[in-house]
Amino acid sequence: MNVSEAVNARSSIRRFKSTPVDDHLVRTLLEKASRAPSGGNVQPWRVAVITSATMPSFLEHVQAAPKQSEPEYAIYPPKLKSPYRDSRFKVGEDMYGLLGIDREDRAARLGNMARNFEFFGAPTGFFCFVDRVMGPPQWSDLGMFLQTFMLLATEAGLDTCPQEAWAMQSNAVRTFVEAPDELMLFCGMAVGHRDPAEPVNSLVSDRESLETWAWFV
Ligand SMILES: Cc1cc2nc3c(=O)[nH]c(=O)nc-3n(C[C@H](O)[C@H](O)[C@H](O)COP(=O)(O)O)c2cc1C
Repeated sequence: MNVSEAVNARSSIRRFKSTPVDDHLVRTLLEKASRAPSGGNVQPWRVAVITSATMPSFLEHVQAAPKQSEPEYAIYPPKLKSPYRDSRFKVGEDMYGLLGIDREDRAARLGNMARNFEFFGAPTGFFCFVDRVMGPPQWSDLGMFLQTFMLLATEAGLDTCPQEAWAMQSNAVRTFVEAPDELMLFCGMAVGHRDPAEPVNSLVSDRESLETWAWFV
């Protein structure tokens, strides 16, 4: 598989099979992903892995944790403007369409949202933290690291879903993985094997045309 093939093959997977993932493979992929570039080579990613062995007790811990009133950080700007809000709306509608969930069915939507906090059934996953002293440039470095990981996972025959939803359960995550106070949780990453029988996994999200976001001078 070449890089273009991996880029095209990766998509966010929201229903996993229980097929286990070797912890050593996750370690190897994380190590390889750390070849991602970062400004000044500061390598600001800090990662806590929930291994297959730990996953059941982690999920129990999260289930029992009190609901958080505020996310760890503002996941979107307070008033997301067009065309960003339209893209966000569209992918949500496409996803709920495949899940067979009606636009007005708030309970079903919330129920699906809660699947985030089960890593969508993935047998393993990790959390990516960043030191609170870091700013937007270092947060962008996390993105490079995470995408590098996802492409390597694709090459290795694994599927992934990056999950900023975990910012809404950051206290539960933080206590379980014993993250030091100076670290802020950015996102989770579900890692496993897609369930091909689940329609939601067939979602191919739209992309804006190049003319929308690039201009050649
Ligand atoms: C940093 C980041 C956080 C995300 N958080 C979530 C999440 O919490 N839950 C979820 O279902 N998808 C999440 N996604 C997946 C996006 O919805 C997805 O990347 C986008 O719709 C494009 O689809 P694709 O990944 O299949 O190409 C996240 C993606 C990124 C990059």
